[in-house]
Amino acid sequence: MRTPTFLVSTLLSLATLTLQQSDGCQKSIPGDIELGKSKNLTITSKSGHTPRKYRIHVPKSYDKAVPVPLILSFHGRGKDMKFQEKLSQFSNASYGFEGIAVYPEGVSSEGTKQWQGDPDSPPSINDVTFTVELLDEILSTYCIDPTQIYAAGKSNGGGFTGLLACDPTATKRIAAFAPVSGAFYLDADTSELPPCKPTSTRSIIPILEFHGLKDDTILYEGGLNTRKNANSTNIPKWVDAWATRNGFDANANITTSLCSKAKRVTRYSWDDTVVHYKVSNLYHDWPSTFPNGDTQLTTCEEAEATRVILDWFKKWKL
Ligand SMILES: *[C@@H]1O[C@H](CO)[C@@H](O)[C@H](O)[C@H]1NC(C)=O
Ligand SMILES: *[C@@H]1O[C@H](CO)[C@@H](O)[C@H](O)[C@H]1NC(C)=O
Ligand SMILES: *[C@@H]1O[C@H](CO)[C@@H](O)[C@H](O)[C@H]1NC(C)=O
Ligand SMILES: *[C@@H]1O[C@H](CO)[C@@H](O)[C@H](O)[C@H]1NC(C)=O
Repeated sequence: MRTPTFLVSTLLSLATLTLQQSDGCQKSIPGDIELGKSKNLTITSKSGHTPRKYRIHVPKSYDKAVPVPLILSFHGRGKDMKFQEKLSQFSNASYGFEGIAVYPEGVSSEGTKQWQGDPDSPPSINDVTFTVELLDEILSTYCIDPTQIYAAGKSNGGGFTGLLACDPTATKRIAAFAPVSGAFYLDADTSELPPCKPTSTRSIIPILEFHGLKDDTILYEGGLNTRKNANSTNIPKWVDAWATRNGFDANANITTSLCSKAKRVTRYSWDDTVVHYKVSNLYHDWPSTFPNGDTQLTTCEEAEATRVILDWFKKWKL
């Protein structure tokens, strides 16, 4: 009786193991990569601009035979991949992430690096194409678990993370999405968000969003960006739309109060599938327990974006 059961479960786990390894497994890491140190690299791209830049951090613990998770972290408009690495802290061993962190860089237009989704981004650039090319490159070079690929981003990079969550191809590759102070722009002609078309092969798309009540660039309640002539969406409306898209009743959210009264954060959750942190003392920033490239203001540990995002990503696999 025990043998067949054992055999079946061994075969099952072997099959699962095979499925969860990328082509980069068993390959030696490229000669110019040093474990625990970040490196700027480029890929040839059909995104409308080539080559495209990215920065990669392979952790000290990396083993070419062990598939690890991959996080893509997108910078805000006018910032760059190195700034985003320091801001989002996914390369910082003290947060315990043992996977590969990649910080893609937007194309510079009139001296400003940006992502698709910003009204000023050149229509000739397709950053979704670049993202998919980058995933192919990373998965064929390193040992990644293809079911554990995640995207996060700040501001325009958060808005782009939101576009990826609505993209039929990207949602076949990326398990969960975490925009921070996301710039979700409305189309100037329709006053609507762009159409959201995740792959129909998934019943849910996990979403986690942080937004400051004091955000003076991408207003919490939505409206005209203070820096340009473009409207962004109302944040609760955006979050509620994700809850609805994922099959929940938007009004049936569980709310929890976090942090001290002065730093009050309200967490809205639909079964952890859609989660929103409304941060009372946050401007257009990445919430952190220590001053970062965005702000000197700090939040408490339970609302620290890096920590919360890493914990939440662990729940999701494709
Ligand atoms: C890596 O790229 C960043 C821009 O994101 C730049 O500031 C930095 O100087 C580059 N580092 C090297 C070693 O070229
Ligand atoms: C890494 O994170 C810790 C807090 O978790 C912080 O004190 C430290 O400054 C960070 N290191 C870098 C290089 O940002
Ligand atoms: C922003 O929204 C307001 C109110 O709906 C509208 O009057 C205005 O034309 C919009 N501006 C742009 C640039 O879409
Ligand atoms: C949460 O539920 C309340 C009603 O119970 C609703 O007004 C609100 O829009 C929902 N979502 C958010 C993000 O507040």
